[in-house]
Amino acid sequence: MATMKAVVVEETGGVDKLLYKDLPFPEAHEGTVVIKNHFIGINYIDTYHRTGLYPLPLPFVLGRESAGEVSAVGPDVKDFKVGDRVVYIGGSTYSEYTEAKVGAVEKITNDVSYETAAAIGIQALTAWTLVRESYPVKKGDHILIHAAAGGVGLLLCQMCRYLGATVIGTVSTAEKAALARENGADYVINYTTEDVVAKVNEITGGLGCQGVLDGVGKSTWDISLQCARRLGSVISFGNASGVVPPISIATLAQKNLKIMRPTLFNYMTSREESQKWWGEVFELLAKGVIKTHIYKIYDLADAKQSHIDIESRKTTGKLLLKP
Ligand SMILES: NC(=O)c1ccc[n+]([C@@H]2O[C@H](COP(=O)([O-])OP(=O)(O)OC[C@H]3O[C@@H](n4cnc5c(N)ncnc54)[C@H](OP(=O)(O)O)[C@@H]3O)[C@@H](O)[C@H]2O)c1
Repeated sequence: MATMKAVVVEETGGVDKLLYKDLPFPEAHEGTVVIKNHFIGINYIDTYHRTGLYPLPLPFVLGRESAGEVSAVGPDVKDFKVGDRVVYIGGSTYSEYTEAKVGAVEKITNDVSYETAAAIGIQALTAWTLVRESYPVKKGDHILIHAAAGGVGLLLCQMCRYLGATVIGTVSTAEKAALARENGADYVINYTTEDVVAKVNEITGGLGCQGVLDGVGKSTWDISLQCARRLGSVISFGNASGVVPPISIATLAQKNLKIMRPTLFNYMTSREESQKWWGEVFELLAKGVIKTHIYKIYDLADAKQSHIDIESRKTTGKLLLKP
C-alpha cells in the first residue's frame, strides 16, 4: 500500500505527542479532492488541539491549513481538476497529502505563491473578520492589539493602520516592538515590564480604546477591560496565555462595554461566506495592504520544534511546515 508522511496525535499532551508517521495515501471521494501540500500553516490553535484544550476525536492528523496542488478529484467534483493551485482550511494538514472537502478549498492565482497563500490563510482571515465584523474598526479609533508581533497581531496592525485607526500594540521584547512598529503600530507597550493601563490612558487622554483585540487571554483580560473606552468593544479571540476566567456580566455596566468571543470558523460556514472573506483578503494582498512575515519554514518532520518555538514566545509572524 502506498504511504505518506504525516504528523499524528494519538493521545493529547506535550510536544512529544507529535508522532511523525507513515499513513495510507488518502483518496478522493464524493465532494472531496486530494491536495499535495507544498506549505502547511502553523497556527496557535494547533497547540490547543495537541494538548486537548480544544478536543478532537483521537487519533488525528494535526493541522488546519495548507497550500498546494490538487492531485486527485472525487467522482462528482466539477469545480477542480488535477493540477489546480489551491489553499485549504480544514483538518489533517500536517501531512504530505490531505483529503479536503471542496467547500473549504479556494483556488489561488498564479501571482500568489504557495508559501504566501499558506502564510496568509487563517491568520489574515481571522484578523480581517475581527476588524470588519467583530469590531468594525473606524477611522480615528484607538485600537489596542495584544501580542502585536505575532501571526495574527502583525496582520491586525497592518489592517488597522489601513482602516485609519491609531494602533497601540503590546509585546514582550524590544525586537517584537520594532517589528510591530514597522507593521503599523503607532505605539508599542512591553506588557511584561510596563503598566499597560497607565500607558493607554496617557496615549488616549484617559479615555481608553474603542476596540481591544485580545488573543492572549488569561494574562491580559483584566487589562483589556480596563483599557476599553466607555461604550467600547473588547474582543477575546484566543488563549495563548491560558483561558479567560469567568466574569460577572455586571462588570460591563461600569462602561457599557460590549464583549465578544468570535471564531473564524463561524464566519465561514457557507461557500458564499468563505468566498467573500477570501476575496477580500486576496484583494488586500494584491493592494499591498497586507504583507506576510515568515519567521521560519520547518521540515514537516520537525513539527515538534515548531511547537516548542511558538509556545516559548520567541516567534514572530508566521511559521510554516514543508513536507
Ligand atoms: N478565534 C479564532 O478564530 C482565532 C483564529 C486564529 C488565531 N486565534 C488566536 O489568536 C492568537 C494568536 O494566534 P497566532 O497563531 O497568531 O499566534 P502568535 O500570536 O504568533 O503567538 C502567540 C503570541 O502570544 C503571546 N503570548 C502572551 N503570553 C503568552 C504565553 N503565556 N504563552 C505563549 N504565548 C504568549 C506571545 O507574544 P509576546 O511574546 O509578544 O507576548 C506569542 O508570540 C491565539 O490565541 C490563537 O488561538 C484565534
